[in-house]
Parts: sequence; C-alpha cells; structure tokens
Amino acid sequence: FNVPIAINEPVKSYTPGSPEREAVLKEYKKMYNEKVNVPLYINGKHIETGNTRTMSPPHDHQHILGEYHLAEKSHVEEAISTALEARKEWSQMPWEQRAGIFLKAAELIAGPYRDKINAATMLGQSKNIYQAEIDAACELIDFLRYNVQYMSDIYQEQPESTSDAWNRVEYRPIEGFTYAVTPFNFTAIAGNLPSCMAMMGNVVIWKPSNNQIFSAKVIMDVFEEAGVPAGVINVVFGNPGMITDTVMASPDFSGLHYTGSTPVFQDLWKQIGNNITNYKTYPRIVGETGGKDFIVAHKTADAKQVATAISRGAFEFQGQKCSAASRAYIPSNIWEDVKKYVIEDVKSFKMGSPENMDNFITAVINEGSFDKLAKYIDTAKTDKDAEIVVGGNYDKSKGYFIEPTVILTTNPKYTTMVDELFGPVITIYVYDQDKFSETLKLVDETSPYALTGAILSKCRYAIVEATTALQNSAGNFYINDKPTGAVVGQQPFGGARASGTNDKAGSAQNLMRWISPRLIKETF
Ligand code: ALA
Repeated sequence: FNVPIAINEPVKSYTPGSPEREAVLKEYKKMYNEKVNVPLYINGKHIETGNTRTMSPPHDHQHILGEYHLAEKSHVEEAISTALEARKEWSQMPWEQRAGIFLKAAELIAGPYRDKINAATMLGQSKNIYQAEIDAACELIDFLRYNVQYMSDIYQEQPESTSDAWNRVEYRPIEGFTYAVTPFNFTAIAGNLPSCMAMMGNVVIWKPSNNQIFSAKVIMDVFEEAGVPAGVINVVFGNPGMITDTVMASPDFSGLHYTGSTPVFQDLWKQIGNNITNYKTYPRIVGETGGKDFIVAHKTADAKQVATAISRGAFEFQGQKCSAASRAYIPSNIWEDVKKYVIEDVKSFKMGSPENMDNFITAVINEGSFDKLAKYIDTAKTDKDAEIVVGGNYDKSKGYFIEPTVILTTNPKYTTMVDELFGPVITIYVYDQDKFSETLKLVDETSPYALTGAILSKCRYAIVEATTALQNSAGNFYINDKPTGAVVGQQPFGGARASGTNDKAGSAQNLMRWISPRLIKETF
C-alpha cells in the first residue's frame, strides 16, 4: 500500500485583520458563552453521570465555561468491558482501513475543526493563538499523518523467506486493552497518545488531564466523526486514583502510554509491578515525564541569539512546555549583553487574556501552579544567593498571571536551578568564561532529568565537547537554537533518565511498542 506522503501542516499566521484571525476569535467568543456539557465517551455513547465539575479559563477563573461529568468505578469497568468487546472486530480490521480513519481525523482538524480545537485550547488551557495553532492544530495533524506513514512502513517490513519456507510477520495489536493518561500542556499529545495505540489495532481507555477537558472533547468529536468505531477509544474523566486503580486491577490491562509528572509515572509503574502476576501479558510502559531543561552558552556565542533562546525557550506558553528551558549557564564575557537583550525581550511581552492576540503571555494552568511559582519567586527575592533580574510580579485576582521571571543565582545548585517549576521562570548561573569544561560537567551532574537541552556556540570544538559531555543529559539536544518546538517528522521527541522511557513521540519506534508481532513460518 502507498499511504499519502506525510507533510507538515502549514502553520497559519493569524495576522491582524486576516479572515483566519476573525474566524478563530468568533469561535472563541461563541465557546466562551455557550456553557459546554462534556459527557464521558464509552462505547460510542455520551454518558452524563450527573456528578459534574465546572471548567473555567485559567485567565478568567470566575467565568464558567461549562461542566464535565465524572466517572464512577462502574463507568470505568463498563469502558473496559466494552473496549474488550470492540477489540474483537477492531483488531481484525485491515490496517489500511484504520489508517483511513486517522487520516480523515487529520483532515477534519485541518479543516472544519481547526477553529474549534484552537479556541478550546485557548480557553481551557490559556494558550495564545500562535501556541494553540502549532499545538492543537498543526502538531496533532502531523502526529496523525506521520504515524500513518510510520505504521505503513512497519507493516511492510517482512523477513526473508526461502523456496521451501515462507516467513511472514503479522503486526498484531497487543492483547487486552491499553490505557492513555495525558497532560494539560499539549492538546496534540492528548490526541496522539490514544490515537497512536488505536491506530495499531488496540483499544484504549483514555484519561485526559482535568485541566484539558475542553479540547479533549473536541478531539473525541473529531475521532467520532472520522469513524473511530464505538468502544475503540473510551474517555473517562474524574478521580485519577480511582480510574487508574480500576484499570490496573483488570487482568486484561496491557499497556500504559503516559505523559505527565515523574512522581505519578513512577507510582503507576510501581502499581503495575505490584500487580504483575495478575496480568495476562506483561504491560507495555511508555512515558514522557518531567524535565529541567537547560541552555548552555559558550564564550563565542552570539549574545542576542542566546537571549532569544532564553526568552522564547523559557516563556512561550508560560514555560509550561515539557521542553521549556528552565536553567541557563552563561559565560561571564557575554552576560551583560545577554541580560540587556533578555530584559528588553521580556519587557516587550504583553500579558493578559488570549482573546487579545497581542498577548504573548497568558495565565498558568491553575491556582496550585500559580501558588507554587509565586512561592519560589518570593523566596528568590529574599535569598542571599539569588536575585530577580526581570519580572517577579504575579496576580491571581482575575486569572493566574505570573510575569515572565528571570532569576540570577551565584549557586549552581540553587533550588530553582534544580527543582522542576513548570512555569515562566528561568534561573541563570553565570560561569567563568574559561571554565566551559567544568560547567558541562556540572550541567550533567545536576541533571537527574534528561529531556531537552541546548548549546549555543560559534566554536565547533565547543559544540563537539558539549555534545559529548551532555550525551546522557537530554533526549532532544539542540545546537544553536532554543530547546523547544520539536516538529513531528523532523525532531521525534522524548527523553531518558527521570524524563521518560525515550520512546520518541511521533516515531516508528513508539508505534512498535503497541504491537505484539506474530511470526508465521510455513514450510512446503
Ligand atoms: N513538541 C514540544 C516541544 O518540543 C514538546 O516543545
């Protein structure tokens, strides 16, 4: 089979006065007022349990967007049994028919659902339109298109045969059902985790983050319209502990696809370990978790380029990308210039509701995140070994707004140099420009995580040295760029150490985790 060659969806620019800007704003205003009701999606039915929670935009937390229904244990059990029933037909469906469904989903997002998924992401997760477009629209479309292409490549890979022995591999889904647990910060990841398992013939229980309900609903509406059959992807919202306990108590649980925090992933892994003798098959475990992503500049680096890497890499989407730079190591010779440019950049960033498209910074995701960040900022204001270079103010009266904040420290192990903050805060350590090698060693030694990192340098020897010294400190390593913005099909994404199993999102390697091949040898 020849599947359509995957191409990256072109990013729309939403320039002032453009029809695309007017259209998405119209959708935003409609959704702001319409009071959406989000049901569970189980076996093709929309279930309203009556036990509801309200949803509000993080940038406007007193406004009610609508409500979503919470699952009881019995709903999760129903989702599992109907998924297993649906598996009987789905797992036998020719793969190119499954591919057709997900290619259709990509085109629905590229066309009629684009404004809806972007507006839901702007409202529910407080992304500005440019960040929503590259995530909820383009990246999700790209995941669907590229995964279909990788899937096609996988299915065509066959072993050698001889005239008297014909060997063939059937790329079957794994037995049982799989579980997707997805984060708030990328609508694309939320859509990718369940869809890439389903694409490979598996059935899925999907638990989205309670902070991503609105755009999760749009994703499910797309999947339904694209023709994902009843029971193949089932969505349950609610108490994460109860949902996970119910899923993992089932002997048919056979795979976890997770993106979220490190401690939760470790707990899930332990729970799987504790139940291991109850399962019919060893569950696959794939996770992308925390990070403490870095920028290292060499003394030859261009100060303006370093400043841009910091201000874009640390502050796009309020620093809530798993890839966001949160610590930087700057040589003493360029620090004053870097500082000047970073301050200029940060002061030029407007902050407020994403409805005003001039706003680069909007709110952080919720009050818990706001309070945690505010505490770190306040501590840095008084600690002897830290100072605020720019930013440092916050206000949660209307929305959870934290100014982009740069902390300077004299202590490379200062708390904000090592703790994962997940917000618009970066900490900078200025090193003696002649101590590059020692600094690389320090970066590696203070990296329990290994998600993203960047080296900026005009000297190729320094690039070589950094690439070698930091070989285990980042799964995605960027030379002369910011550490964010991986594009599907170009930079498969994921990290190791406490950042995950490094089964790159958007890769054949990831899809291979969701199949259980059968080799058939036939002799004549
Ligand atoms: N794809 C996202 C990025 O690289 C995670 O920023």
